[in-house]
Amino acid sequence: MDPKPALPLLFTPMTIRSVTLPNRIVVPPMATYSAKDGIASEFHLVHYGKFALGGAGTVFVEATGVLREGRITNGCLGLWSDEHARAMKPIARMLKQQGSVPAIQIGHGGRKSSMQRPWFGNGPLNDADLARGEERWQVFGASPIPLAEGWLVPKEMDAHDLQRTKQAFVDAALRALEVGFEMVELHMAHGYLLQSFLSPLSNFRKDGYGTTLEGRMRYPLEVVEAVRAALPKETPLWVRISSEDGIDGGWTMDDSVVFARELGQRGVDVVDCSSGGNTPKGATNSNLQRAPGYQVGYATRVRKEAKVMSEGVGLIRDPHHAEQLLQEGAADLIGIGRQYLYDPFWGLHASQAFGIDPDFTRWPHQYAWWLEKWDKGIKAREASERKG
Ligand SMILES: Cc1cc2nc3c(=O)[nH]c(=O)nc-3n(C[C@H](O)[C@H](O)[C@H](O)COP(=O)(O)O)c2cc1C
Repeated sequence: MDPKPALPLLFTPMTIRSVTLPNRIVVPPMATYSAKDGIASEFHLVHYGKFALGGAGTVFVEATGVLREGRITNGCLGLWSDEHARAMKPIARMLKQQGSVPAIQIGHGGRKSSMQRPWFGNGPLNDADLARGEERWQVFGASPIPLAEGWLVPKEMDAHDLQRTKQAFVDAALRALEVGFEMVELHMAHGYLLQSFLSPLSNFRKDGYGTTLEGRMRYPLEVVEAVRAALPKETPLWVRISSEDGIDGGWTMDDSVVFARELGQRGVDVVDCSSGGNTPKGATNSNLQRAPGYQVGYATRVRKEAKVMSEGVGLIRDPHHAEQLLQEGAADLIGIGRQYLYDPFWGLHASQAFGIDPDFTRWPHQYAWWLEKWDKGIKAREASERKG
């Protein structure tokens, strides 16, 4: 009999282009809104390093602005200069040293830029925010329509703005690679700039970048083409989408299938399936009901109908649930967000839940040596107590 149990799919490595993910667990981008003028700090290093120590195969650094005005809040990270990139270098190095694939999401907040950090209200900046030192700036969008009453009116992007922003995505992606990130994700979700082009709720352009589905997809696809052309062919490119707005008259899952096909044809390797956010009620808000795995159905349709690999994410907390989704072919990768904030060792705890790491060999060796003896001691004591 084989003493080693078969590896669950969750722990089976997977290669995308030239990058091998040690397992299928992804920490999705989660903004911490804690940078000063876009520069990463010790906080970010420790925050992201934890997830790598905790067994995540891939760790995404949060939404990072490709331009200063593309930050969502005053606290968002940026990659619009080499100085910003240099500050990210220790994070990429730490993730790699600890065995995770260093990855980063780059984006532009569009008409949702220059807003409050969540804990100050999650709305447009107000006088109290300005008194606290927050800065308000001119925001850009597909059309000059604010997210809601009281929000900033975006400047409708002209040809120069479109070109400049596309180039900023390319430059940020290349800077990310230069400092050690191995995968790049373009943020096309949650009502931010590129999703605001996709969604009929926010794009009213008449210049070929709107009107029809094809027109609305045009600018995001131009950004994809430019970034893909600039990246080495070994580098995986991901795109995060809002699979549906979840609002009447908005972007739908059928649109996402068409879009995912276009993304796949342009060399996007993984579509990361989120949803919502094109409303003032919260970053990912929509009318969708939330339950464990609530967005995984989107990932399933993307991989089956558009034939592009996908990540399923959303209230997945239990390792057996994650494994079941992979076994069913519901998604290729599993995003574990808030659960990783709650338990930064989630991946290592998951491997123990499957019984594939009784000796703590997957843990950082600095911990493993102690924990293996500690655990055996606990079990021996429990056994002797049971005997009475
Ligand atoms: C604190 C926090 C910050 C987030 N920031 C981002 C972000 O920067 N980019 C993004 O695409 N999604 C962001 N999200 C969404 C998460 O990536 C994820 O899709 C969502 O939390 C659902 O997964 P979960 O239920 O496992 O947390 C954020 C979520 C949280 C909780």
